[in-house]
Amino acid sequence: MALKAFSSSLLFFSIAKPASTQDVPFSPCPLLGPRFPVPTKLATSPIFQSGLHNLTQVLDDYVTNLNGTFGPISSSTSFSITLFSTEETNSSQPFLYEYHHTAPGTLGTPKADANSVYEIGDLTTLFTTWLFLIEAGEHHWTDPVSRWVPELVDSAQNKGSGFAVDWDAVTLGDLAGHLGGIGWYAPSDNSSDIASLLGDLTYKNDTDVSPCASREGICDRTEFLAYFGSRDAIFTPGSTPIFSNAAFIILAYALESIAGQPYATLLERSILRPLNLTQTSYLPSTVEAPFNGLASTPHDLTTALTHLLRSTLLPHPTTRRWLKPTSHTSNLVNAVGRPWEIYSLSATPISPVIPVYQVRGNAGVSASHTGLVPDYGAGFVILATDATAGSPDLNAHADILASGIVPVLERTAIAQAAAAFAGTYVSASRENTTLVVALAGDGSPGLSVLKFLSGGRDVRAGYAALNGIAPDDLSFRLYPSDAGRRGVREVFRASFQDSAALGDAGTPTCETWRGVNRLQVGGRGLDEFVFGMEGGVAVDVVVPAFGAGRLERKRGV
Ligand SMILES: *[C@@H]1O[C@H](CO)[C@@H](O)[C@H](O)[C@H]1NC(C)=O
Ligand SMILES: *[C@@H]1O[C@H](CO)[C@@H](O)[C@H](O)[C@H]1NC(C)=O
Ligand SMILES: *[C@@H]1O[C@H](CO)[C@@H](O)[C@H](O)[C@H]1NC(C)=O
Ligand SMILES: *[C@@H]1O[C@H](CO)[C@@H](O)[C@H](O)[C@H]1NC(C)=O
Ligand SMILES: *[C@@H]1O[C@H](CO)[C@@H](O)[C@H](O)[C@H]1NC(C)=O
Ligand SMILES: *[C@@H]1O[C@H](CO)[C@@H](O)[C@H](O)[C@H]1NC(C)=O
Ligand SMILES: *[C@@H]1O[C@H](CO)[C@@H](O)[C@H](O)[C@H]1NC(C)=O
Repeated sequence: MALKAFSSSLLFFSIAKPASTQDVPFSPCPLLGPRFPVPTKLATSPIFQSGLHNLTQVLDDYVTNLNGTFGPISSSTSFSITLFSTEETNSSQPFLYEYHHTAPGTLGTPKADANSVYEIGDLTTLFTTWLFLIEAGEHHWTDPVSRWVPELVDSAQNKGSGFAVDWDAVTLGDLAGHLGGIGWYAPSDNSSDIASLLGDLTYKNDTDVSPCASREGICDRTEFLAYFGSRDAIFTPGSTPIFSNAAFIILAYALESIAGQPYATLLERSILRPLNLTQTSYLPSTVEAPFNGLASTPHDLTTALTHLLRSTLLPHPTTRRWLKPTSHTSNLVNAVGRPWEIYSLSATPISPVIPVYQVRGNAGVSASHTGLVPDYGAGFVILATDATAGSPDLNAHADILASGIVPVLERTAIAQAAAAFAGTYVSASRENTTLVVALAGDGSPGLSVLKFLSGGRDVRAGYAALNGIAPDDLSFRLYPSDAGRRGVREVFRASFQDSAALGDAGTPTCETWRGVNRLQVGGRGLDEFVFGMEGGVAVDVVVPAFGAGRLERKRGV
């Protein structure tokens, strides 16, 4: 569901070795994260702009033909698509790109544009989680639900069944991360509809006991907690991801207890006002509002997500931890976080993974789909509405975006890395001291160290020997670390792989993360390469653990 794997002849083409020595081709194993420095100046990058031009073409064709590579789309769906980047650009902020389509025949409906208001449905869970991190903080993730919403415990005790949710064992982090093992709050289920389809129903009809059991009743906090607290557990907490809208309702109640203010006040003071989201409104008409109660526009949602990814409202380490999975799913490419649905894009099963942190939602006739791609400091928003066919299916739209933009972002990053780093670096003070760094040219990750001499000695062969690898089989690649300073002093970490090693029974493991900083001299890693930058390009390199000193980049090589 959503975001099919993309492929591109340029991307991650594996460096095949003769089949006799191994069962799967060698594949570089980069560290998780950007394989090249995050691309910059997208608004003026020719490759990226060409990619956007092509994307527009594909979208134009799609809305004309109502079909294409990713399957049909509905003729009655109006939608808005935006792309954004965390980098400050002087293009029309907050967008890097926008595309709006108004379904024909929707007379009287205003044209879809950046200021069109959409109900964003479940995307509200992202705001609820973000607000929790700002107002309570991640140190509250391990708190039991019972500490902040004790009424649930009373409800569960009144139930007297052995299968009641153990609210002391469910944590607030479990609620946000789909791991609470609790079910849906689904008052919209029309008992008479179900009864007419399935015949006699044996479950208790509690319409008479709680106004929360049907949409007709006004269900308040006390009633909701009494009604929902006595539910059966679906799984034990921490077992397996299952989606629960109730988790976000309860998380919001916990947040109100921790912060001592109503949800709407907190949202206004900590997100909407600081980011000037004047087109975003909270519609607290039901207890479900922290799950689905926001309406917003492409402009505001794009602004919000740009600031989320830029970590404007949170400490950077908090955001970095937030953009990580909390659980697998049963599918290799899907994981979950708080409240992310994480899709692992890759060209082949052994290619490096590009995680996309998504949230999707439906509300009435609207649908929404957003994604953040931290590897590129970029993201997208898709908002749609379909008054005729009902809540639109946005899978095709998301696939068009991912397949159109991700390979182009990767190519932009590669081209920029080549211009900024590839070349020959020589020591001015030490004879025959040279480092040659190149990009493989096949889209494979990282900068390759092709040659490294110090005073005439073949240091590259030395690195091979230290790692127990024959020099000709050494894959010596540098991957960017974010521990340096962008544009000033950019740090890379080397990884050493044996390109002749046998794959592990056809499913090679990727373990270079275990070797980072392992080879040291006096506590300093021999894998640390520090590039001095000027005007966006490297001018020199130092391996601090190593006596070779500063190597200057040769111009025009
Ligand atoms: C855009 O499409 C043209 C024509 O198909 C192609 O030559 C070009 O490489 C594409 N641009 C990008 C960035 O993929
Ligand atoms: C939609 O397009 C795809 C790919 O171009 C094609 O395989 C499929 O048959 C088309 N479906 C319809 C209903 O036209
Ligand atoms: C944006 O424009 C301002 C004023 O012209 C300039 O000072 C700034 O450097 C520009 N920023 C970028 C990222 O190009
Ligand atoms: C529930 O179903 C009945 C029978 O189909 C229908 O008459 C009624 O309008 C439905 N109620 C709601 C709230 O959808
Ligand atoms: C459930 O209870 C309500 C109120 O007592 C009643 O009106 C309704 O018909 C019952 N529904 C079913 C499916 O038994
Ligand atoms: C806030 O947003 C409104 C409407 O989008 C705009 O008119 C106003 O200038 C913005 N204010 C600031 C301080 O950015
Ligand atoms: C440097 O390389 C040149 C050419 O290969 C060689 O003649 C010279 O002896 C080398 N000097 C040192 C110090 O290794």
